[in-house]
Amino acid sequence: MIPFEFHRGRRLRSGATLRELVRENEIRPQDLIMPYFVVETDDEDFRKPITSMPGQYQLSLKQLEKQVAQAVDLDLKSLILFGIPAEKDETGSQAYADDGIVQKAIRMIKDKWPELVVIADTCLCEYTSHGHCGLIKNGEVMNDPTLNLLARAALAQVRAGADMVAPSDMMDGRVAAIRAMLDEEGFVNTPIMSYAVKYASAFYGPFREAAESTPQFGDRKAYQMDPANGREAMREAAADLEEGADIIMVKPGMPYLDVIRQVRDSFDCPVAAYQVSGEYSLIKAAAANGWVDEQAVVMESLVAFKRAGCDLIITYFTEDVLRTLGR
Ligand code: PBG
Repeated sequence: MIPFEFHRGRRLRSGATLRELVRENEIRPQDLIMPYFVVETDDEDFRKPITSMPGQYQLSLKQLEKQVAQAVDLDLKSLILFGIPAEKDETGSQAYADDGIVQKAIRMIKDKWPELVVIADTCLCEYTSHGHCGLIKNGEVMNDPTLNLLARAALAQVRAGADMVAPSDMMDGRVAAIRAMLDEEGFVNTPIMSYAVKYASAFYGPFREAAESTPQFGDRKAYQMDPANGREAMREAAADLEEGADIIMVKPGMPYLDVIRQVRDSFDCPVAAYQVSGEYSLIKAAAANGWVDEQAVVMESLVAFKRAGCDLIITYFTEDVLRTLGR
């Protein structure tokens, strides 16, 4: 015999039902948010595969409607919209135009599926000719002059029927500016999910193809966070909560699970994570090569967010997971 006592962890792992009984975290359909890319085009049949994100598409309004209809059949509860306008300009004016493509998409979806939670990503980068998230002066992204435009974009989205706005630009003070604008216009009950902790990440690469939002010069390091910093994330989250954010998001997801845990432990608000385009593409590419089991890896990656303390997860795998869960 072995001459000492030891922990028999295997006792609770001996069968599937027993393992389920002691399982600490699980993925639920209502935790997942699906991103969609809607394109302003006259071609109703427009459904263009995003090459770097197999299984994801740029969709016309009509094709988006079809896609959402299928997802709703799978029990989709919530989605986030990104728009690609026909014309971009220096000030990203389609972001705050009443008839901007995202505003149209919001109206269409809320009209057909009033119970769906429709979130609008609030940013200028998909709408500016230079691809930056704010106004440019002398080659620099201006903070304060951008705030009013972001607030106007949020207002246009909420007027169109958005249930929530999610500012992703990383300008300082934008949550306060958006909150003030929404309150002034009577939308006191519309929540703000802030991309409070958003890193200047190479994992956004595929998204920039999807949203056609690659900066035409420079990068986003002067406004998005340095991936090396963890403490700074707490300052960002605290500042956004003070300004009126209702939900704090950490982005990207998997490489920043430690930050998610820190936010969870430091604040009592709901915490969201964005499993971004590059995380999606990495898994897709490995699976396409037969190197990993896609479904298993996806479920494992998502439960990791839950374990780290996340409430909500934005993921391009949402439809796939709903299919898996519904089985
Ligand atoms: C817009 C925005 C980006 C993402 C979400 N909103 C891109 C960026 O900041 O460059 C990234 C999402 C993804 O990679 O899936 N500012």
